[in-house]
Amino acid sequence: MFDTLWKNVTAATMAGEGFGIINNAAIGVTGGKISFIGPENTLPKPAGQLCEYVFDAGGRVATPGLIDCHTHLVYAGSRAHEFEQRLQGVSYEDIARAGGGIASTVKATREASEDQLFDLALLRLRSLFLDGTTTVEVKSGYGLDFESERKILRVATRLRDEAAFRVQRTFLGAHAVPPEFKARADEYVDAVCDMMQKLHAEQLVDTVDAFCENIGFTTQQTRRIFEKAKSLGLPVKLHAEQLSDMQGAQLAAEYGALSADHLEYISEAGVAAMAKAGTVAVLLPGAFYYLREKTLPPVALFRQYGVPMAIATDHNPGTSPVLSPVLMLNMACTLFRMTPEEALAGLTRNAAKALGYDKICGTLETGKAADMALWDIAHPRDLSYAVGHRPCHGIMIAGDWHPQEPE
Ligand code: NIG
Ligand code: FE
Repeated sequence: MFDTLWKNVTAATMAGEGFGIINNAAIGVTGGKISFIGPENTLPKPAGQLCEYVFDAGGRVATPGLIDCHTHLVYAGSRAHEFEQRLQGVSYEDIARAGGGIASTVKATREASEDQLFDLALLRLRSLFLDGTTTVEVKSGYGLDFESERKILRVATRLRDEAAFRVQRTFLGAHAVPPEFKARADEYVDAVCDMMQKLHAEQLVDTVDAFCENIGFTTQQTRRIFEKAKSLGLPVKLHAEQLSDMQGAQLAAEYGALSADHLEYISEAGVAAMAKAGTVAVLLPGAFYYLREKTLPPVALFRQYGVPMAIATDHNPGTSPVLSPVLMLNMACTLFRMTPEEALAGLTRNAAKALGYDKICGTLETGKAADMALWDIAHPRDLSYAVGHRPCHGIMIAGDWHPQEPE
């Protein structure tokens, strides 16, 4: 009846309120999907009669596989020297305006080959895997010309096809104005729209993002990018209100965006607009921490308006060189005062919603993909509590088990 059956599981289903814990649970997998989840004593027959392959989870905690819904995983080079500059008091914006920041990673990424970028990204993906991740969103945005953006999106596609992860590929051509378009941002936006069309025709794009900011693109320029995405039937999301309130959240909501991300400087009107549109708030504690930001994202307002909150690593070489989603759980609690339940929902159920994958994954429920992480912990709250202990025992993606240590 089942392809595989897990018994002796402490399941944190993340469906409904709280952690959705089922003690002494069994999880049956058929055709890569969850076909049974419930107390073991409610299985229709004894486990051995239902399936040849019965695994004992040893009472470990199972959660949905973690979903890192905002990363810039594909790039070359390091920005450790800018980290040092910032420690000396130079601001992120000052570094960007002086030609460093995103532009310096663009230079290194343009110079790297597709294979070099793939190897670097695969190593990073490996770290996410060690932390229980099964789905990752990967943005372009360090190429900023057709060939280089194509190279990055091809690497993201190879990660999807060769590394067995679920990968969403996001075109972020509007991440920064490249040097060859200096002071010609509007012309660069035309080029971005043109690139989007061509890359979409090559089936390299799942979603479209932009950096709406005073050191990025104006709302008017972002609107043109969203219009183009809409004409191609591509869903949008937005880096919004990270450093200032540009009213990007309202614009994202107007276009029915999957998510608006960062949001430290969002206004109440922005929160209300997101609530109405069903746009997910993706909060990024890593970037907040590295930039030593003082303004918090308005978690209480998101709760009040019922805006779902996701969290993610925002892995990138500038503002968040972080490869640990589990650390983000802790930071969401300590820095943003989210509860452990909210933090874990932010890396599972709400992260799935931020990618438009909520019918596919994000909770442990029958009919969803059998994407799961198994943890050496006593209770799911432990994931937000301790740091650096690497408690993930293994992950399952579409029913395929990948142990952390070869068994
Ligand atoms: O999400 N804000 C824009 N993008 C990235 C940072 C990119 C960079 O500095 O390289 C972010 O924080
Ligand atoms: Fe980002």
